[in-house]
Amino acid sequence: MHTVQVATPGGHYPIHIGPGRLDALAASLPADATALAVVTNTTVAGLYGDRVRAALAGTDAPLCWVELPDGEQFKTWESLNRIFDALLGAGLDRKAVLVALGGGVVGDMCGFAAACYMRGVRFIQVPTTLLAQVDSSVGGKTAINHPLGKNMIGAFYQPQAVEIDTRVLATLPAREISAGLAELIKYGMIADAPFFDWCETHVQALRDLDDDAIQYAVRRACELKAWVVSQDERESGLRAILNFGHTFGHAIESGLGYGNWLHGEAVGCGMVLAAELSARVCGLDRAAVDRIRALVQAIGCPVQAPDLGPDRWLDLMRVDKKTEGRHIRYVLLPELGRASVQAVDDDRVRPVLPAGARA
Ligand code: NAD
Ligand code: GLY
Repeated sequence: MHTVQVATPGGHYPIHIGPGRLDALAASLPADATALAVVTNTTVAGLYGDRVRAALAGTDAPLCWVELPDGEQFKTWESLNRIFDALLGAGLDRKAVLVALGGGVVGDMCGFAAACYMRGVRFIQVPTTLLAQVDSSVGGKTAINHPLGKNMIGAFYQPQAVEIDTRVLATLPAREISAGLAELIKYGMIADAPFFDWCETHVQALRDLDDDAIQYAVRRACELKAWVVSQDERESGLRAILNFGHTFGHAIESGLGYGNWLHGEAVGCGMVLAAELSARVCGLDRAAVDRIRALVQAIGCPVQAPDLGPDRWLDLMRVDKKTEGRHIRYVLLPELGRASVQAVDDDRVRPVLPAGARA
């Protein structure tokens, strides 16, 4: 097992990474927990519910089980309320501990519920998708969607621990693996050029979920994310680099309707567009753009952006937490392994968008 430490003003906590961590969950729980509430969805409960119940059976704390429907479309107030109904219905007090068992959707919602319930109770992240293991479970961003924007209602709220069982990835559909790999290779692009090289040479091992490759990659991603969020928990500067490709990606997700492309797929394609923009705006060399496109394709994500129609792309991209006034701010790469954030005029962005978006 590997341990990565996260140290933010909002909390210090360990990320434990290794095969079989699901069965060792009880060891991560605070000894004074008066109750446990596992928040999960129907799919993950069907696959891992019995194992988690067995892992928690040895604890004295009573167990409340909250099972939500599966899907990004359920990352809503209604689902959040279902969690609160269950917690209040079971009489959970402020020393209860929530356990987020699932992908980023469950993790974000359970984290937000923990931030709000009785003004804040402790929670543990148990991410079961690759995307959640390398990104969403670490760093304390929690949220639900609003009909007018993704992740627009939420809080920064750190977990007590992150328990990553790399073996649970074996049941993930291949498309979800590719989507998670998009967030993984992002770290090489923004902060660690040698890791980008390593991803290029290990792409098949990663897609095949080779134990050694996956454990190394998940650990490196968690180290890099911990390094970023430890310096800038609330995204007042540096943390924005983690959004590389996301401004374009969120436009794809909302423009095509949530659920058509997976979040990671949209981010993968968005990183190709962001690399093209970087070449025009801050001098990223052509070879690096080509390598980024080739790696996104090699992990199994789309590289051809959808035609969302003239000006709609830009309108969609303006609905972004980095936007200031009317100015869309992009994460760009001056070189592979280094990122910066800057506003770019719409006219300089149009040429990198699919043909139909050129006014
Ligand atoms: P997800 O949570 O919808 O999970 C994807 C699918 O995999 C779901 O159908 C889920 O039920 C299923 N699943 C989960 N674990 C499984 C397993 N081990 N085996 C088989 N199936 C399994 O999607 P995701 O990609 O994990 O997360 C996307 C969400 O994360 C988005 O809502 C995004 O906004 C959010 N996100 C948050 C952050 C953050 O910092 N908080 C970062 C990135 C993404
Ligand atoms: N996934 C982006 C962040 O955590 O800031």
